[in-house]
Amino acid sequence: MSLKFDFSGLFHPNIEDGLKEEEIKNLEEKAKEILSCIKENPPGFMKLDPEWIESVKKLKEWIMNFDSLVVLGIGGSALGNIALHSSLKPLNWNFLSKEERKGFLKVFIVDNVDPDLLSSILDLVDIRKTVFNVISKSGSTAEAMANYMVVRGILESLGLNPRDHLIFTTDPERGALRKIAREEGIRSLSIPQDVGGRFSVLTPVGMLSAFAEGIDIDEIHKGARDAFERSLKTNVFENPSAMIAISHYLYLKKGKNISVMMAYSNRLYPWTDWYRQLWAESLGKKYDLEGKKVNTGQTPIKALGTTDQHSQIQLYNEGPNDKIITFLVVNNFERKIKIPKVHEDIGELNYMAGKYLSELLLAEQKGTESSFLANGRPSMKVVFDEINEYNVGQFIAYYEVATVIMGGLLNVNPFDQPGVELGKKITYHLMGRKGYEKMNMKEFKKRVVM
Ligand code: PA5
Repeated sequence: MSLKFDFSGLFHPNIEDGLKEEEIKNLEEKAKEILSCIKENPPGFMKLDPEWIESVKKLKEWIMNFDSLVVLGIGGSALGNIALHSSLKPLNWNFLSKEERKGFLKVFIVDNVDPDLLSSILDLVDIRKTVFNVISKSGSTAEAMANYMVVRGILESLGLNPRDHLIFTTDPERGALRKIAREEGIRSLSIPQDVGGRFSVLTPVGMLSAFAEGIDIDEIHKGARDAFERSLKTNVFENPSAMIAISHYLYLKKGKNISVMMAYSNRLYPWTDWYRQLWAESLGKKYDLEGKKVNTGQTPIKALGTTDQHSQIQLYNEGPNDKIITFLVVNNFERKIKIPKVHEDIGELNYMAGKYLSELLLAEQKGTESSFLANGRPSMKVVFDEINEYNVGQFIAYYEVATVIMGGLLNVNPFDQPGVELGKKITYHLMGRKGYEKMNMKEFKKRVVM
């Protein structure tokens, strides 16, 4: 069953200041224009080249020799991997035995240069049975490269041939990683030049680690392909991507500067991180396409149900009415746990006895949704009948296209990230990289330190 989208909680009269159909219709022409641009000139990620899967499958024999795969990457070169891993494998995957994993690999993702993180993973895996997948489109991002250098040093110090334990996923032509791969004959996969980092999960970036742990990557692509097709429909009431973009755009104009994605599933929760990057980095821009200063964007926030009901919901219901909320809901969980009939004589507890934990979870989601309705807080729902490869592929595709449409509505370039560059350059300067000796760094004029 495909993903279902329920936009009811965004509309009038369900909520007082809700969207009216005319408002959507007023944007229909603009949306059609954007959609025909996408159709005529599809962004690279929509190509879904079969080679993205085939190049990965060719490595099967080699990959299956290992016990663990460790991804070294950051941002778009890690967040999709984390989300695929947590949503499509049991949450305890890395604790299962090789037999229980049917020979597939454990997968770890190191997406920071926190020494405590890297060492904890290196302590956990058997380096001799580990393949390190260094992912970097540019082939030079400091974090991914630093972790790679640490790992390479360890491999060398153990007398292991780095070529036997490394695979790079990088630009087909440019960058330091590609150069090293060529010079040393290190295995490599290509990230198409026309696919940006945060849009790259369906390329070998996300596909290798998923394949190594036994995820059906063909089904992910199948789901994505079907969703891409639907996301080009010009009737926006039949096009989830267009409706996500238009509704978020209209609400942004009404002062909803924050977009919360709240997953009622621990397995889906990392997709809210992936969404956060996609929405923030693609749409948070200083200049529009005409070079006019606009400082636009909508701040994405992540939340987990029910956990954050005990942390965030008070604010969402009664604080500033500046949010549009998206629930991720799962109808059928893989595992079922029934609450046993204990404490039948205690009224505060016995109403739950004999019910499933998932019933409680779903009831709480409904409760939160209704409370938003009562408080005039707009919300929509993405419903996974179950969490599987096909639905996850759809989710990725719908949100990637929604981001591009939103970029069109905001009149900004969703594919660049100039705001990230300055900080990167200063880091290079501070770390002594050649070519970055002179840096006109802003310093505090006044210090308040305690
Ligand atoms: O979306 C993007 O382009 C960025 O978030 C990148 O994915 C991130 O900076 C990592 O870059 P790279 O893959 O070049 O190491």
